[in-house]
Amino acid sequence: MCGIIGIISSKEVSSRIVNSLKKLEYRGYDSAGIATLVEGNINEVKCEGRVDALEKDISKFNLKGDIGIGHVRWATHGKPSKINAHPHSSEQVSVVHNGIIENSTILKKLLEKKGYVFKSQTDTEVIAHLVTDYLKKNSLKDTIIKVLKKLHGSFALGIIFKDKNDLMIGARRGSPLAVGYGPNENYLGSDSYALKSMTNKISYLDDGEFCIIKRDQIEFFQSNGIKVNKKVMNLSKEELNYDKGDYKYFMEKEIDEQPSTIKDCINEYVDKYNNQINIYNFPWNISSLKAIVLIGCGTAYHSCLVAKYWLEQNTNLDVSIDIASEFRYRKVRFKKDSLYVFVSQSGETADTYAALELCKKNKMKTCAVVNVVESSIARDADLVLPIYCGQEIGVASTKAFLGQMLVLYMLSLKISYDQKEITKKTYHSKIKNLLLLSNSAKKTLKLDHKLLKIGKVFAQAKGCMFLGRGYSFPIALEGALKLKELAYVHAEGYPAGEMKHGPLALIEEGMPVVVIAPRDEHYLKTMSNMQEVIARGAKVLLITNKNKDEIISENIWEQIEVDKLNDELIPFLTTIPLQKLAFYSALEKGYDIDKPRNLAKSVTVE
Ligand code: G6P
Repeated sequence: MCGIIGIISSKEVSSRIVNSLKKLEYRGYDSAGIATLVEGNINEVKCEGRVDALEKDISKFNLKGDIGIGHVRWATHGKPSKINAHPHSSEQVSVVHNGIIENSTILKKLLEKKGYVFKSQTDTEVIAHLVTDYLKKNSLKDTIIKVLKKLHGSFALGIIFKDKNDLMIGARRGSPLAVGYGPNENYLGSDSYALKSMTNKISYLDDGEFCIIKRDQIEFFQSNGIKVNKKVMNLSKEELNYDKGDYKYFMEKEIDEQPSTIKDCINEYVDKYNNQINIYNFPWNISSLKAIVLIGCGTAYHSCLVAKYWLEQNTNLDVSIDIASEFRYRKVRFKKDSLYVFVSQSGETADTYAALELCKKNKMKTCAVVNVVESSIARDADLVLPIYCGQEIGVASTKAFLGQMLVLYMLSLKISYDQKEITKKTYHSKIKNLLLLSNSAKKTLKLDHKLLKIGKVFAQAKGCMFLGRGYSFPIALEGALKLKELAYVHAEGYPAGEMKHGPLALIEEGMPVVVIAPRDEHYLKTMSNMQEVIARGAKVLLITNKNKDEIISENIWEQIEVDKLNDELIPFLTTIPLQKLAFYSALEKGYDIDKPRNLAKSVTVE
């Protein structure tokens, strides 16, 4: 949700800012801009659309300067346009911002009364004028402290000053911000991915902090101005080397990586020698837990939904799940013997983070299931369970979904065994089955060729349905979400048994319907529901698993059979064809698969 970059160097910075913006585009891509400082002047280039367009514009202007900031935007206040693109500048300063300033309307009125003139419809522009106003009577540091105090809402900021060619400012509340250390130059960025081509040495600002970045030094402060020391972290080799390789799209690569990300994640948690799941540092007595609440947004929420089935099946906990944006505003009855689990790929999703903060305020036990271990959610939770799937760049989540499910499944087994809800024998046999998952995922990826053809039909559909029962119901939701996100086709996921209560009315001749019906306890019932839609003209793609028995149904349009595995593990496999289906449908339509319209990867606003 908006990406920020800043570089202070003794060499020119604009081309490196553009390169980093390209890396940050997954955070927002409706407009882009850059500002550099050249001999006491701030020069700006901005445009609507992608960084490629910005790059062309910059080449016309021959933009010089050894200090600069850049931004890719995901519009909140004010439509995507050149005028609303960041940076936003006053006579004195230029600002890039990720987040939302909730009191911008009040601040704007006050500043207008003082004579400041606004050019854009953004909330960000108030920051530029506010800084300018405070600078009249305050030192730079006091200005920052006072301005940050005035701002309500969330932000990550980068600020450069017309009359200061030796520094820039970074600040964060809510939205993430990293700094990087280089040789006689330093950097500011929304994430380490944007900085990795320049440095492998990174620090993260904690919530409420700001920093003064000079060419040879970075100083960090709490919001009240007290200096803080920061740990410098080294980016791992994997983080430094992550790119598209031979693939055209990150999403395609990320789908294909799943057998190895599954393996990596299992290797982190499963002790193959003793055949057990290790969750180190579990800070509570598992047997004293009575309930578990799983919270997330989007795809992460769907992983919580699948986990509900596993946890209910294997443990004696009361299980509830919640969408973070709902949870945070409900009058929740917090219970001491409950564990609150926050699932988020990025670890920065504003609603999930706010839900975590709410639980912390109420002194609850909190656990984060995240991909980004340096993220806000990971930092603030009592226990962190990483999903170990490496950076995910495609806006629509794929490998992280499987990773989230995997960690939640292993957590359910661990709790179940510790609670003595399953025998040692069952526990060991479930773990043994888990070790087969990566290979079955690899085989599932090979079913690709069929989906290319099927994707063409879904791409042209007016609307379609995804149906399933039990574990397959959340997978139906996820399949529908992927198709919406990528191919912009109206798609609905439904519990197969619920069709007759309304949605059946939507079925008409030729409508594509995906039925996810592995040979589990729901199989026969789902087959009947499938016949009901076929009888009304639906074109059914059946996703099931291999079995010695023939498929008992007729008139199925297309069929995909994943491996035969323990029923509990089938959701991992049935997800893969649905990811591919969405991918090929979007490919058929020529859409930008890694950056679907109107969306962003890391949603740091409400
Ligand atoms: C956005 C992304 C989704 C993701 C959701 C939650 O909407 O486009 O792919 O599932 O945010 O993100 P998180 O980082 O919290 O998992």
